[in-house]
Amino acid sequence: MLDERIKDEGVEMKKVVVTQKLPYPVEKNLSGFKLFYNSKDEQLSRDILLREITDTDGLISMLSDKIDKEVIDAGKNLKIIVNYAVGYNNIDVQYAKSKGIIVCNTPHILTETTAELAFALMISVARRIVEAEKFTREGKFVGWTPNLFLGTDLYRKRVGIYGFGRIGQAFARCCRGFEMDIVYTGRSRKYDGELLTNAKFVSFDELVSTSDFIVITAPLNETTKHAFTIDTFKKMKRDAIFINVGRGPIVKETDLAYALKNGLIRAAGLDVYEFEPEICKDLFELDNVILLPHIGSATEETRYNMAELCVNAIKNYLETGDTPWNTV
Ligand code: DGY
Repeated sequence: MLDERIKDEGVEMKKVVVTQKLPYPVEKNLSGFKLFYNSKDEQLSRDILLREITDTDGLISMLSDKIDKEVIDAGKNLKIIVNYAVGYNNIDVQYAKSKGIIVCNTPHILTETTAELAFALMISVARRIVEAEKFTREGKFVGWTPNLFLGTDLYRKRVGIYGFGRIGQAFARCCRGFEMDIVYTGRSRKYDGELLTNAKFVSFDELVSTSDFIVITAPLNETTKHAFTIDTFKKMKRDAIFINVGRGPIVKETDLAYALKNGLIRAAGLDVYEFEPEICKDLFELDNVILLPHIGSATEETRYNMAELCVNAIKNYLETGDTPWNTV
């Protein structure tokens, strides 16, 4: 049974639902509201969400909560949904808007944190950090040899960024320290980003066929869904390294596993998965992939700031009706 608590301090109070425990004093900062707070570090069940949403005014949802038509229809008083993430593909935004409900996210404050994680993954895959650490911990290190865990350099290699938004551009800035040749692709050119990072705009095909490192920082939408399939992996360099910190369904995961297993590409690093939290079983068998549990924005500072942004958006909107700056 989840630890459910409702503070009812009067009939006039507006109700807020927070679906999961946040690293922030939620109760203190939402004390003026009737609060349903799932203060356990586990996903709120669909049944409880559907029950609690019926009389709520504001919702703070996690990226793992599916906020679809059924939930939105159940929320008869719902006025605002704030997603504790920058990505909001878990919410039917169009439908919410059609019902007059505004949807907010947490942009900007997690940009550098997520870019750092992408860079950490890239360098860890290139230098086989996880494999080598495991080897050492298992007591297998019996002496230096010229061939032990040979990786590949980042210095002056080409990095192709798929999704040159805020996170992609912050990631590009990290790459500049290694004098990498930065290319990107997307729906449109980002002239400011090009100036700040020295990145060049190329076609999708050029990016995938010429890059030594291919890094996904894009959001999930109709254009990006399954942009990377077996046909894409076949076009890549045989020693390409593939990183995904964007969203899992941008990649057909079984095709990626095939590409890694059959040497179509060298290695990969993943923070997100097509059917999260399920992960394609074949990936567990492979040494040339690092698998992380969706921790792109997971630092103490950033997760606190994200929570504060969510709470303030809910509070201000329900108290004043002013549209929050982070409305999508
Ligand atoms: C987001 O906020 O969308 C990220 O995926 C979190 O890591």
